Amino acid sequence: MKAFLENLKQLLAADMAAVDQVITTRLHSEVLLINQIGAYIINSGGKRLRPALVVLSAEAFGYRGKHHHELAAVVEFIHTATLLHDDVVDESALRRGRQTANALFGNSASVLVGDFLYSRAFQMMVEVGEMRVMQTLADATNTIAEGEVLQLLNCHDADVDVVNYMRVIYCKTAKLFEAAMRLGAILGKATTSEEEAIARYGIHLGTAFQLIDDVLDYSADETQTGKHLGDDLAEGKPTLPLIYAMQHGSAAQAAVVRDAIVQGDVEKFDQVLEIIHTTGALDFTRQQALQEAEAACAAIGFLDESKYKRSLLQLAKFAAMRKF
Ligand code: IPE
Ligand code: IPE
Ligand code: MG
Ligand code: MG
Repeated sequence: MKAFLENLKQLLAADMAAVDQVITTRLHSEVLLINQIGAYIINSGGKRLRPALVVLSAEAFGYRGKHHHELAAVVEFIHTATLLHDDVVDESALRRGRQTANALFGNSASVLVGDFLYSRAFQMMVEVGEMRVMQTLADATNTIAEGEVLQLLNCHDADVDVVNYMRVIYCKTAKLFEAAMRLGAILGKATTSEEEAIARYGIHLGTAFQLIDDVLDYSADETQTGKHLGDDLAEGKPTLPLIYAMQHGSAAQAAVVRDAIVQGDVEKFDQVLEIIHTTGALDFTRQQALQEAEAACAAIGFLDESKYKRSLLQLAKFAAMRKF
């Protein structure tokens, strides 16, 4: 799994170095705290998956300019801003194997630097000067915000159903994957139907990615994800593993899970985990992720064979099988 990401990094080495250069340059501010927090989170690693998607999509459509590097950096800035905000809302203490920015610098600083990154991203996309690019990113950012608010409303609500859950993960996660793919298509002057197809790839990939994120919150090796287990339960998040466990467990088991969601009770983590395992909830969720990955691959069947297409196909598998 790690090997695949390494191969991808090698394939895109020159592009991703250019993207990192844009990131470093554009992170700069005269305000010291912005540089500190910005550098802290940006340099702490992260898979850089979304910028890689912009590059892969642009290359798959034969784009030959430089704007894909800027837009890849824009997408990573938007992603990073959502993480800064998300960790405040989720009261998370660990990200990318380090203390979160909110734990280290405080909630206010995290929220405000998140705003800086969002607005810097908007300055950068305006410089590219393409209305469709701005439209795509403005829509994506707005939808992510909606998704986070929708999720806030769902917290501690054990009656949230699968449809509602899927809507949240589309908004908060899949939408940015979709936008990343669309940007490459716009730069590469793809046809409308090609753009829609590659956008569907992004949606399915992002959905698979978040389904597995929700599995990993109950099963990961923390040293691999760099995030704490149990953050979702602590927030009372009704994710698919819990929804499935309530639907397929005994009445007593369902009641335990329901209570844990309502209370946001991490004390119950081991008990909930046991129920998740006995009901097969994680396997079910992984299965759903695999189906999404297959749908993602099907969506790009139209692309000509290339190393970029092959990477996109492998990425779909990675999203559904990943351990970090
Ligand atoms: C974390 O995304 C947020 C989710 C949508 C699950 P990543 O797992 O891509 O985070 P980094 O950038 O690699 O740290
Ligand atoms: C993804 O949701 C949030 C964003 C899109 C920012 P999570 O809350 O599950 O992400 P992690 O697990 O904190 O990375
Ligand atoms: Mg979170
Ligand atoms: Mg998570």
